[in-house]
Amino acid sequence: MSVTLAFDVYGTLIDTHGVVSKLQEIVGDRARLFSQTWRDKQLEYSFRRALMQNYENFAVCTSQALDYTCAFHKVSFTDEQKAELLGIYRVLPAFSDVKKGLTQLKNNGFRLYAFSNGKADALEMLLSNAGIRDLFLGVVSTDDLKSFKPNPAVYSHFVRKSGASGDSAWLVSGNPFDVIGAISAGMKAVWVQRSQQTVFDPWGIDPTITVSNLLDMVDRIKPS
Ligand code: LAC
Repeated sequence: MSVTLAFDVYGTLIDTHGVVSKLQEIVGDRARLFSQTWRDKQLEYSFRRALMQNYENFAVCTSQALDYTCAFHKVSFTDEQKAELLGIYRVLPAFSDVKKGLTQLKNNGFRLYAFSNGKADALEMLLSNAGIRDLFLGVVSTDDLKSFKPNPAVYSHFVRKSGASGDSAWLVSGNPFDVIGAISAGMKAVWVQRSQQTVFDPWGIDPTITVSNLLDMVDRIKPS
């Protein structure tokens, strides 16, 4: 059976720090730190909402995390500035290896899906804008279950919805928590270590393979 690949979107295909140049105009040198707090808080809100079963979609987590980040870094944005930043978030760029890497994998017979916390309509827009939507057989959102990664149910949902069988379904993610979540739920997983500075969580649950970008993957994934 051919291998099905579930690509995480934010932080794997799409660069969440694509807002930094806009942020520089507003917060200067603190832009990178601001962007990191925003991203960390967005994920924390998704974890907490999943655990509390108090679901609001990922765009709400992103917007509320932006408000938190402004308060934390003691900056105030106008409504227009906030709307502009959230607008940029909806059309963030893909990392430079992504289009070529996905094309290579598709041409080698892998079944490609996008699999993300983002709502389906937001994902369709993001991937279309980055010029990569047509490379995927489909888009699967955790919003279908009104929950977020790493709830084990969302990984099972992906396997069912994509028509993959458990041992031929691989997650591909730059986010260590996502890799651990997928492996714990019975999938295999590629960790895309986009920066040497990124540390993998020492839980004793290791990625099936680790790559530095999507161009390194094609010869390393073997059907089981
Ligand atoms: C996603 C989050 C993990 O795209 O960034 O699912």
